[in-house]
Amino acid sequence: MSKILVAMAMVMGIAAIGSVQADPYASAGNAAGVKNDGELALPADYASWPVYLKNIQRPDLKQIRDIYINPQGQKSSRPFAYGTTMVMELHSVKTGSDGQPLLDAEGKLQKQGLSKIFVMGKGPGWGQAVAPELRTGEWAYASFDGSGKSLGKDASSCRGCHVPMKDTDFVARVPEYEANRLSGK
Ligand code: HEC
Repeated sequence: MSKILVAMAMVMGIAAIGSVQADPYASAGNAAGVKNDGELALPADYASWPVYLKNIQRPDLKQIRDIYINPQGQKSSRPFAYGTTMVMELHSVKTGSDGQPLLDAEGKLQKQGLSKIFVMGKGPGWGQAVAPELRTGEWAYASFDGSGKSLGKDASSCRGCHVPMKDTDFVARVPEYEANRLSGK
C-alpha cells in the first residue's frame, strides 16, 4: 500500500469514529421496528383494551383523562414489558358561564369532547434519538388531536414531565393502577 493510501485509510477511519462520537444518538432508531417520538401509530382498537385508569379528574386543567393499556402490557408493571402501549384520552369538560367546571350530582367533572390523545410505547432500543437527559428508559411518545391527526414529532415537553417518574418506569399513577388491578376493578 502506498503512503497516500495508508494516509487516506487513516483519515477515513478517524472520520468514521469522529462522526460516531460527535452524534451518539442521531442514528439510533434506524434498526427494524425501532420507534422514536412521533413514529407510533394511534392504535385503532385501543378503546377495547384493558383500562389502566378511567375518569381521572383534572379540574386544574379542566380535563377528564382515560388511560388504556394493551393486553400485552397489562401483565406487567414497573418495569413494563416490551410491547406495552398506553393510550390516554384527554377530554375537555363542561363549564358554566363563569368558566368554571360544571359538576354532576356526584361532584364529578362532565365530559365535553375528546381534545387530544397521547400514546406511549416501549420496545428494545426505542426512544433513544433524544439527548440523554430526556431519555425515559425505552419509551417513545406520540400525540394526536381528537380526530386522530398527528400533532408532530417533538415530544420534549412530554419527556420533561415523565423523566422524573423513573421509580415507576417513567409511568404516572402506577400505585393506583396496581391497587385497582389487585382489587379486580
Ligand atoms: C405536565 C406534565 C406532563 C406532560 C407535559 C406530559 N405528561 Fe403524560 N402524564 C402526566 C401525568 C401526571 C399523567 C397521569 C394522568 C394525570 O394525572 O393527569 C400522565 C399520563 C400519561 C400517559 C398514560 C400513562 C401514564 O404515564 O400514566 C401517557 C400515554 C402520557 N402521559 C403520554 C404523554 C405524552 C405523549 C405527552 C406529550 C405530548 C405527555 N404525556 C406530556 C404528566 C405529563
